[in-house]
Amino acid sequence: MNHLLAIDQTQLLHHKHIVQGEKALSELAAAASKGKYRNHYHFMSPGGWINDPNGCIFYKGYHHLFYQHNPYSPAWASMHWGHAVSKDLIHWEHLPIALAPSTDLDQAEDGGCFSGCSVIDEQGRLVLFYTAVGKGSSHNRFTQCMAFSTDGIHFEKYTGNPLIESVPEGIRYDARDPHVFRHQDTWYMTIGGSIEYAPSSLSDGCILLYQSQDLINWKYLGIPIHSQGRFGTMWECPVLFPLEDRWVLTLSPMGFGCHTNIYLIGTMDFENCHFELLGSGDLDLGADYYAAYPYTDPTGRTLLIAWQNGWNWMPGWKSFGPTASEGWQGSMSLPRSLSISPEQKLLIHPAEELTSLYANETRIHLKAETLGSQLSWPSPLCCETEFTIERASLTADALLLELRITESYVTRIILDFASSQLIFDRSRSDSHISGENRSRLLRFNGDFFTLKIFSDTTSIELFTDDGEAPMSNNIYSLGCLPILRITSLNGTADINIVHRELKV
Ligand code: FRU
Repeated sequence: MNHLLAIDQTQLLHHKHIVQGEKALSELAAAASKGKYRNHYHFMSPGGWINDPNGCIFYKGYHHLFYQHNPYSPAWASMHWGHAVSKDLIHWEHLPIALAPSTDLDQAEDGGCFSGCSVIDEQGRLVLFYTAVGKGSSHNRFTQCMAFSTDGIHFEKYTGNPLIESVPEGIRYDARDPHVFRHQDTWYMTIGGSIEYAPSSLSDGCILLYQSQDLINWKYLGIPIHSQGRFGTMWECPVLFPLEDRWVLTLSPMGFGCHTNIYLIGTMDFENCHFELLGSGDLDLGADYYAAYPYTDPTGRTLLIAWQNGWNWMPGWKSFGPTASEGWQGSMSLPRSLSISPEQKLLIHPAEELTSLYANETRIHLKAETLGSQLSWPSPLCCETEFTIERASLTADALLLELRITESYVTRIILDFASSQLIFDRSRSDSHISGENRSRLLRFNGDFFTLKIFSDTTSIELFTDDGEAPMSNNIYSLGCLPILRITSLNGTADINIVHRELKV
């Protein structure tokens, strides 16, 4: 076939599938816009299903957020790439679907255009890399593909796809989620995968490293780091990036218990294809935080956005929540910023742009007592509440915060100083989810300790001032009372509370 004709056919078909997807989405969006569970300041698609953030990048004056998306239904299937842009990380403008399944490579019903990344190429084009998942003979076929755009809105699939069509020996067929970056005038790509130790059933999560001069031809270099039985059996959505004087690998491991989004800090030797591990930790220890995507903004800040939900293979998973009945499912976490501590731990804080949401503020000083205090909590569905505890005043073993209180439900957050744990208890939060998550209160040794609670309709995100292991959990309790209860166990504590309504 004539080459130009082939290009036209590929783009026409892609365009047709995008238009179809957009039409289906607008019907779901009409229902979703009336939804009671819609968040106020967390990113959501207008309707349908979303999971992983993909290819976050700052391009032509905007933060671009792409994401795994099914515009046909609020359930996972037939993955598209949704797309939105923002100037301030808070107000997002929805753009047309960027990628839709439209070729033999990506048209499996339980496939599509899986997660990936974006880069700006030498001609200034915005280039997307994704895993195409199409039908194969014994199982789905996973290949690594590319699409590009000159306006940052409309994307053409590369007619020479796939760029990488098979996995190296010993790697399971479903390697996926390419991440591309430039280092010392060379392009590199990592792909998440699983090493299979045949004939045993053991497997190890790993990344595969490739190199290219032109973004089209990729040479396989090897496996710079793998789990070695420590960090799970399959690594999804890995992102390798420089931060301060280190290299950081963030990834979402399968088969690593409650550690569903972790980071490894180390040094990277590209010549010998080796990542030297110096430290590791959790990006978040809540139940609803997955596939975090780090990227750098023009000020040099490293930002992090993740999907705020979890998969059914995760420990304690009960449901995706009730929002599918409103025509949508899934939202993104708040943007966070990253730095490294001297102990080789990642410090994670809410992005400072969020302070622009601050509205009516109430300040309270409270001596927490064993009998408990009931405070007014004026806007429980859309607020930030900051608790600062004076170390010298603390004699209690623990503090219990009870919020999202209805006649039947309550959500409990426990600051357990005795065992240095932050506990999020959803066992009585609503009828859709359950369980308990634990994070650490590592640096409770300064004069003050601060806990921030960001609350949105279906989301509670916790941050401590030590910046280690925040917690994101979804809660589906509507009609809660505008109160918060605080009780101290075996002692007292002086607490300063700042409650801020958040206005978008
Ligand atoms: C992670 C993930 C990715 C995959 C995508 C499919 O949540 O399983 O590995 O590319 O979701 O939607």
